[in-house]
Amino acid sequence: MKCRVCGQTASISLRSHKTAFCDTHFITFFEKRVATTIRRYRLIGETDRPVVAVSGGKDSLSLWLLLTKMGIAADGVYVDLGIGDYSRISLEKIKAVADRIGRKVHIFHVPDVFGRNISEVAKGLRRAPCSACGMIKRYVMNKVCMDKDYNLLLTGHNLDDEAAALFGNILYWKKEYLWKKDIALDAREGHLSRKAKPFFLCSEREVAAYAIMSGIDYIYEECPFSKGAKTITYKGILGGLEEASPGTKLMFVKGYLKELRGVKEAMHEDGRAGAESEEGFCPVCGYPSGGGECGFCRALQKFELPYSARFEEYG
Ligand code: AMP
Ligand code: FES
Ligand code: ZN
Ligand code: ZN
Repeated sequence: MKCRVCGQTASISLRSHKTAFCDTHFITFFEKRVATTIRRYRLIGETDRPVVAVSGGKDSLSLWLLLTKMGIAADGVYVDLGIGDYSRISLEKIKAVADRIGRKVHIFHVPDVFGRNISEVAKGLRRAPCSACGMIKRYVMNKVCMDKDYNLLLTGHNLDDEAAALFGNILYWKKEYLWKKDIALDAREGHLSRKAKPFFLCSEREVAAYAIMSGIDYIYEECPFSKGAKTITYKGILGGLEEASPGTKLMFVKGYLKELRGVKEAMHEDGRAGAESEEGFCPVCGYPSGGGECGFCRALQKFELPYSARFEEYG
């Protein structure tokens, strides 16, 4: 197969786009697509001060590098869960990219603040590791925005992540989650930062190819506690559908975004959109919590620790 642009031997074929590219032209193609997504969905504005949530994986590190190449300077934030070599190696990969692009990374060490790693925190809270981890990550990522004056949190979620989550929500008709997912989520002034996912429409395979072709050294292993078996099963099923009918995943997720616009407009019209902002905030830290103390503050209290959310800075 030949590269569509230069005619040299292609290194990647994209059946969903009915095309193939060499390394150089795939990188250009991928960067253009992400730039188009950012523009079309107004993900990042000229006056924004974004921060990228970096995990050490291919998605977030690719996003960080790509934004720099587009002229969008962004620092990073990393949540160190204290999971042995996995967390240590992730941080090494993050620091290497931070050095390469000349940006800072804010590091939140779970073991420093909680005196134990995420698995022990979860045990103490009688929660599954991933559930405690998700709660702490969401909290910390928002906290860095509030404390360090970033107004936009960017994550590396890709098309496969979104398609699998959407599939699961539809399969079990989890209506309370279904229309909550979006390529961008609005801020709640003073409490919750705006969020966006620039790789929402890029497949995992494309992002991995971009990372490798760009010389990014990322962590291949998944977190030992992460990803319920279900997400992996859904990704497998969707992969099979994609194989039989290229472009299915993209159509599924793009179709959802289109439907979502209609749902949100209808909610605005009948006044339901503002209902959420009426819920209360944590009396200790101000995080949206439905009134009482938030999960993060309750977790610290459970271990009889004072409130603290400090960051180490690298770079
Ligand atoms: P995941 O749910 O692990 O697929 O991660 C989705 C996105 O969340 C990643 O692309 C990152 O942007 C962000 N993320 C995940 N884990 C971390 C972490 N430990 N620290 C900072 N950001 C993270
Ligand atoms: Fe959630 Fe590891 S415990 S990513
Ligand atoms: Zn080429
Ligand atoms: Zn709180």
